[in-house]
Amino acid sequence: MIAVDGPAGAGKSTVARKLAACLSFLYLDTGAMYRAFALKALREGVDLRDEQALAELLADTKIELYPMASKGLVQVILDGNDVTALLRTPQVNATVAQVAGFASVRSDMVTRQREMARLGGVVMDGRDIGTFVLPHAEIKFFLTASLDARAHRRYHELQQLGFDVSIDRIREEIAHRDMLDSSRPYAPLLQARDAILVDTTDMEVEEVVAHMLAICRHRLD
Ligand code: DC
Repeated sequence: MIAVDGPAGAGKSTVARKLAACLSFLYLDTGAMYRAFALKALREGVDLRDEQALAELLADTKIELYPMASKGLVQVILDGNDVTALLRTPQVNATVAQVAGFASVRSDMVTRQREMARLGGVVMDGRDIGTFVLPHAEIKFFLTASLDARAHRRYHELQQLGFDVSIDRIREEIAHRDMLDSSRPYAPLLQARDAILVDTTDMEVEEVVAHMLAICRHRLD
């Protein structure tokens, strides 16, 4: 099991997916699970401050992840419907950290994530994987990058998806989400003591993957 944590835009999903492909491991994107649930909560009009209502909604929610080689993403099926293309909208971006902040939402998600990783052979990315979800993962990485670099990456990602967004707005949104993710009392974004720190600010994706892969091959041998 390999855990990849870090703040928004550090490149986790891209490198975790590539790393998984190189190792023939399964890639599990836990952020996509929180995003799918935020989407459902928005659609159902649930009060996003009501933890009990959110916990009940999640108990009645099915989230499936499937590898999607062609687009390099994880396909997300929410209650039987493909919502992959709907998970990175500004509305979901703006609400997901709030929904993910509740202990009862997180404990349900963590149970699901541990179950998915039960058989091993997975690269799981998120915020609390090395510290909480898979504390016994063989290898843990913590990816960071400067706020500016992360904002630029998200900007290009959103532009490619056809969203007309401003870089300043994205920078603010990421900083706000960092603050919410890092300051929540329950399983905050934190580097595990035994995680390897990788600062990707000045690194190309392929460089990051090669660096992580070398560490994995060395450790898993
Ligand atoms: O990695 P991402 O940007 O897709 O994550 C979306 C949100 O979900 C982010 O605000 C933090 C939250 N999240 C979390 O709290 N715990 C995880 N394991 C993964 C994501």
